[in-house]
Amino acid sequence: MADLLASDLIIASHKGPYAVEFRDDPFAELVAPASAGAHFLIDRRVAGLYERGLRPALLSRSILLIDAAEDAKSIEAMPAYVRHLVAKGLRRGQALVAIGGGVTQDIACFLAATMLRGVDWSFVPTTLLAMADSCVGSKSSINGGGAKNVLGTFTPPKRIVLSTCFLDTLNERDVRSGVGEMLKVHAIESPASFDAIATDYPRLFTDRAVMSRYLRRCLEIKKPIVEADEFDAGPRLVMNYGHSFGHSLEAATNYAIPHGIAITIGMDFANLAAARLGLGSAEHYRRMRPTLAANWRGFETTPVPLDDFLGALAKDKKNSAQSLGLIMPNAAGTIRKVSAPADEKFRAVCAEYLAKGRTAELP
Ligand SMILES: NC(=O)c1ccc[n+]([C@@H]2O[C@H](COP(=O)([O-])OP(=O)(O)OC[C@H]3O[C@@H](n4cnc5c(N)ncnc54)[C@H](O)[C@@H]3O)[C@@H](O)[C@H]2O)c1
Ligand SMILES: [Zn+2]
Repeated sequence: MADLLASDLIIASHKGPYAVEFRDDPFAELVAPASAGAHFLIDRRVAGLYERGLRPALLSRSILLIDAAEDAKSIEAMPAYVRHLVAKGLRRGQALVAIGGGVTQDIACFLAATMLRGVDWSFVPTTLLAMADSCVGSKSSINGGGAKNVLGTFTPPKRIVLSTCFLDTLNERDVRSGVGEMLKVHAIESPASFDAIATDYPRLFTDRAVMSRYLRRCLEIKKPIVEADEFDAGPRLVMNYGHSFGHSLEAATNYAIPHGIAITIGMDFANLAAARLGLGSAEHYRRMRPTLAANWRGFETTPVPLDDFLGALAKDKKNSAQSLGLIMPNAAGTIRKVSAPADEKFRAVCAEYLAKGRTAELP
């Protein structure tokens, strides 16, 4: 990919290193796995849109088309996928190849981790969110028991083939969802890094070379963080900036807000809460808000019931028995984990934000 000047990016993991391979033509990479008897899991929409390029995969003997929605990545949906792979004779030496967004990735990763006690898998991400963030880091999470992402493992793929050609057909809302995660990754690196991508924000949508540059940068920023803490025991928790609030917004709206847009709102929420609770400064809230607000446009008035929101927040994996575990900027703008009691003051901040925070900058 000329505009990426792309050498592979190698990520170390407990299963050995794996590469993110940047390609103009990702389809040529499917011929070898197809003839080696790989089992393909393909987003149904992508299969229709890229029928020609995906022909080697679509003509192979084992294809599972995934209707990418949250219920497709639930434990209840797994038996049908398992039946298919058993019927197609999945063996240990064969690999799964996932082509799609985060939903297809999570399903493939979960099946690869558990079937036959582990088979290899590789991934061709087709959404911006999956390219910029979820493809590296080993995580798979599926839904179960009425809760999101409660079942999963850390199982990295063998390789990732990344091509921005898939962005041509992604709708604007899904592009902005991916941009939300890109803003997050840059904010985690530093306030200056966030300011750089914020300045170029409009060009992300109009100039593919600019998009590709920030996309690669996201993976470069994420690489040392996931390598240092693949199992999410400490330093990697910062990657959840915007996610405690964001996941709760998703749950309280029954997933009416796409993941990366909810994370965009979640960062603003976290910035305001940090300032209100005396854990950070209002400067970062004001500095970041215009770009974040541009990215969540269209979702300013999606109703979020306060009690549903707080109920979801209380279930966050990062909480302790006594307090909420939140990822917020400190006064210098460094993103880090803090503990905050779920008291009346916190409830008042949440009520204020949910009532007015998305439509106007709060004083
Ligand atoms: N495992 C992880 O580390 C991780 C990290 C972040 C998010 N996730 C999960 O990822 C999921 C969200 O993933 P996502 O946002 O990538 O989207 P997705 O897989 O839900 O896909 C979003 C929509 O885009 C369509 N689509 C995919 N590629 C397309 C293309 N190239 N052109 C046109 N349409 C296309 C899909 O059919 C779907 O309708 C959530 O379930 C989230 O929990 C996982
Ligand atoms: Zn996310």
